Amino acid sequence: MSVLIKDNVITLHTKNTTYQMAVNENNFLAHLYYGTRLDDSVADECGKMNYHTLMPLVYDSKTRELSPNVCPLEYSAYGIGDFRTTPLKVRFCDGSSVCDLRFHSAKYIDKKPILNGLPALHDTNTESQSVEVCLIDNIHDLRVYLLYTAFEENDIIARSVRIENHTGKDIALEAVLSTCVDFYEDEFDFITFDGKPFSERSMHRTPLMDIKLTAESRRGSSSHQCNPFVIACSKNCDEKVGSCYGMAFVYSGNFTASMEKTQIGTTRFVMGINPENFTYLLKDGEVFQAPEVIHSFSNSGFAKLTHNYHNVIRKNLFRGKYADAKRPILINNWEATYFNFNSEKLLAIAKQAKTIGVDTFVLDDGWFLGRNGDGSSLGDWFVDEEKLGCPLSELITKIGELGMKFGLWFEPECVSENSSFYRQHPEWVLQAPDRKGVLGRKQWVVDMANPAAVDAVFKMMADILDNNNIEYIKWDFNRYLTDVYSHALPANRQGEVHHRYVLGVYNLLERIHNRYPNLLIESCASGGGRFDCGMLYYTPQIWTSDNTDPLERVNIQYGTSFCYPIISMGAHVTASPNHVSKRVTSIKTRSNVAMAGTFGFELDLTKEAEDDIEILRSETEFYKNYADLIRTGDYYRLTANTNRYIAWQFVSGDKHQSLAVLVMQKNNIDYKPIIQKFSGLQSDLTYRVIIDGIERERLYTGVALMEIGLNIRTVKYEGESTRIEILAV
Ligand code: GLA
Repeated sequence: MSVLIKDNVITLHTKNTTYQMAVNENNFLAHLYYGTRLDDSVADECGKMNYHTLMPLVYDSKTRELSPNVCPLEYSAYGIGDFRTTPLKVRFCDGSSVCDLRFHSAKYIDKKPILNGLPALHDTNTESQSVEVCLIDNIHDLRVYLLYTAFEENDIIARSVRIENHTGKDIALEAVLSTCVDFYEDEFDFITFDGKPFSERSMHRTPLMDIKLTAESRRGSSSHQCNPFVIACSKNCDEKVGSCYGMAFVYSGNFTASMEKTQIGTTRFVMGINPENFTYLLKDGEVFQAPEVIHSFSNSGFAKLTHNYHNVIRKNLFRGKYADAKRPILINNWEATYFNFNSEKLLAIAKQAKTIGVDTFVLDDGWFLGRNGDGSSLGDWFVDEEKLGCPLSELITKIGELGMKFGLWFEPECVSENSSFYRQHPEWVLQAPDRKGVLGRKQWVVDMANPAAVDAVFKMMADILDNNNIEYIKWDFNRYLTDVYSHALPANRQGEVHHRYVLGVYNLLERIHNRYPNLLIESCASGGGRFDCGMLYYTPQIWTSDNTDPLERVNIQYGTSFCYPIISMGAHVTASPNHVSKRVTSIKTRSNVAMAGTFGFELDLTKEAEDDIEILRSETEFYKNYADLIRTGDYYRLTANTNRYIAWQFVSGDKHQSLAVLVMQKNNIDYKPIIQKFSGLQSDLTYRVIIDGIERERLYTGVALMEIGLNIRTVKYEGESTRIEILAV
């Protein structure tokens, strides 16, 4: 039993962790413990810590330490003296915003409930157990349901919150965060994954200070600048040792995640929809469902935390045909042609791609009427047969005759000013009354909060997908939200637009998913601007970044790998010199880096020399031998990304097969030897070692490879890379 409710204490156990809370004498739901798995112990020592505070808010002199300004709580609302970030803020019909949440009831739930309209972890075969706790404000009969689900095997606790309005009047929700964890200590580092277009998800580690640390997005999508995955860890935490807590938000819009030290030596950790630019009118009898946060804890460093997230995302978040299947190796024409192509050109690329072992051809932006640059036609999803030189179906047939599948690019959430969509329905884009608004990449954002606009986009997409044999789509989104106003909503609901926009996107994705269950969708947002667990529920791969320079890509993939599985990262071999950085790199390095992702191509193969085509062919062959390991294996970061080189490793579940890659980020001018130690192997197994195709004459035990390592002599200069196959004999 992984969930226990006993004597006012609620305990969730996973294989290696325990989460515990209790109803205290004031009827608050107090947080007791989250960490290494306990036996039957109750962490009540913590729940009754004798907190001294200069200005106690005493409910009762006997239980002064249970006062809401000091007591670690599972969830709390603004107004009664919890001065930390309160996850809930409600404005009642009388204008007051004081809300006093006390424990009402708790019950077991066998099957994890779906979260209406929202992506979330799901059971594949009843491997999870849940408990739902109801807190209530008795004056106004506002009910708050906290859902906790333990996924035992992967040390995951998923949390979400549902608000029910039984007050008899309308209320306004001004903040509804999804989780709140109060730790009984304040020595943490806060790790965030921040950046910008072309350098998404750089890891930043900030010591917790006396002021609150926040990671957030206000851009309408999860954003390039901040990612909705954060870690709180002990000072000594590295890949192998130390304790760390992760929080991943299953949501693709504005978010906040913060850590806040208190005057009494505790720390509050919260995550949820960003309350900024959010107000939600909840009518009497209505329900608001807040998105899910996936928590995990590891007491043995980041690698274990990463494995927990990779495993649960692959098993319990991905859905459909590709959740657990080989992904296609694709070639995308974007960096090969940009907008300048016809079917002859595309077929020539596809033909060459087939010879190197590619199985899917993807036609990127520019295939629809009048789209010869980024200034027009978005929203008019009609094929430009004149430009292509044939109907789309004919191109697809010809690609099919080559033995390849076909994929197509869409940007469903945006329309160009110069489009019949916008001319006919200017009210279907986000634009405030009497204001023209701000164009981004010369395009408007479709009002996905308006079901009529969502329907129209769905119909246009279905028309293409019903009539053509399309097995993959790239779902792009190339701007942030401005002018956030929906013509479909009344004035008092405009604070809901950001959230309803995200729900509209999910609704459209769900309808496409249901109608075309075998379709593989890869999402994208000007590169990796919307890489989050919300999107991964619908699109099991996401284009990681528009920066395809392998030496920069390794940093982006490094940060992304902390939470997101390797098979979710869209990664392509592109041309050299790189189009963005102009850096020249070898095919081998470009492909070694793309192999730490979905592995595909995005270059004009008709311009590559025959010798290079031969190398690309053997690289593809090599990848195919390791595709299952890369997709399903355990991933280890062998270095930080601040060294002369960066290295990573995949290990199969049975520990018999492993592949490591090392990429030089700087010249090794001081001749410092590279002694690389490996991870995750079985100590007493004997392994063969093959470095860049050349097998070492001797054998190694797992323990020797992990504790002594190998002296790597195959790389010296910036941009060189080497790969090490480690195979049990
Ligand atoms: C975005 C994507 C690119 C490409 C272009 C097409 O920038 O990130 O990969 O699809 O749009 O316009």
